[in-house]
Amino acid sequence: MSRESILLPAPMHGSVAAALEPRFTLHRLWQEDDPDAFLRAHGPSIRALAVSTLAGPVGADLFDRLPALEIVANFGVGYDNVDIAAARARGIVVTNTPGVLDEEVADLAVALLLATIRQLPQAERFLRAGLWRDGGFPLSPTLRGRRVGLLGLGGIGKAIARRLEGFGVDLAYHGRTRQAAVAYPWYPTPLALAEACDTLIAILPGGPATRHIIDAAVLAALGPQGVLINVARGSVVDQDALIDALRQGTILAAGLDVYAAEPEVPAELLALPNAVLLPHVGSASEHTRSAMGHLVADNLIAWFERGHPLTPV
Ligand code: NAP
Ligand code: 8YV
Repeated sequence: MSRESILLPAPMHGSVAAALEPRFTLHRLWQEDDPDAFLRAHGPSIRALAVSTLAGPVGADLFDRLPALEIVANFGVGYDNVDIAAARARGIVVTNTPGVLDEEVADLAVALLLATIRQLPQAERFLRAGLWRDGGFPLSPTLRGRRVGLLGLGGIGKAIARRLEGFGVDLAYHGRTRQAAVAYPWYPTPLALAEACDTLIAILPGGPATRHIIDAAVLAALGPQGVLINVARGSVVDQDALIDALRQGTILAAGLDVYAAEPEVPAELLALPNAVLLPHVGSASEHTRSAMGHLVADNLIAWFERGHPLTPV
């Protein structure tokens, strides 16, 4: 196999370069003194891009500078960072990293659910502040008796559901289609799901189709004991409406791993005592990020060796 050129616009987990370097010439655009001059000189020879969900959008502007581009390998199962229409229009294949992160993200979602309802970060802050001597931490809300709605029941949603079955809560879901093999009640809209539940876990793709799918009405439908957990994308929640709902007590609490304009988290959200906030760490273990990196590399290798990527979107 000849040494094809792969462009990395931004830093990625080290497993990607480690797996690709023996076979390909890697160009790290962020290390170039003049990225624009680099693209003018080398853009025409680049046949592949490796990009990351966390490193910003990739679309026509970059594709137009890479006329030989054949494939974009995304580090992440969500690919709302890639302009799929622009890729399709140019015949560019896009791959993602499904499956290898399901269990890790599901672990995190359940941890965030429990942390939010049982107020674990607040309890730890209470202890560290030396307040225990003055009396016990106030009693928390509970997971007992909750009806949990999964907004999205794909690979990760199902891994969350498997875990929650062990917690003895009622489960229901919404996706665009009812799944014949799934016994949990299905609701045809996010609002109908929220009306039937008091706890909502968002684990569906981001992008224009799901933008603000969780709005003020959905939050109000969860009710004053309502809990929102978002491990999907910040774009699926109307963040201003959420801040308002948490401030007014329209819902009880929220646990968030993702935000509208990462890594920015609004001061209003930071100030809320009933929000548990994580910095997009759903898949962020060394084990799982390494598995994702290997799948990015294996997609590129499969494309150049056999003309078929492993996990095209
Ligand atoms: P998946 O297997 O493709 O499942 C996606 C689910 O969302 C399906 O149940 C699908 O059902 C539903 N869905 C898709 N479009 C929808 C729409 N417009 N309205 C309602 N439901 C819709 O994906 P996955 O692997 O579970 O991952 C889900 C998402 O989680 C990713 O896309 C990513 O954004 C996010 N994620 C976040 C982290 C993190 O670190 N926080 C990590 C991994 C993934 P239907 O097709 O029937 O609608
Ligand atoms: C990562 C994710 O944070 O897979 C996704 O969609 O959001 C997470 O696994 C991301 O992919 C890192 O780039």
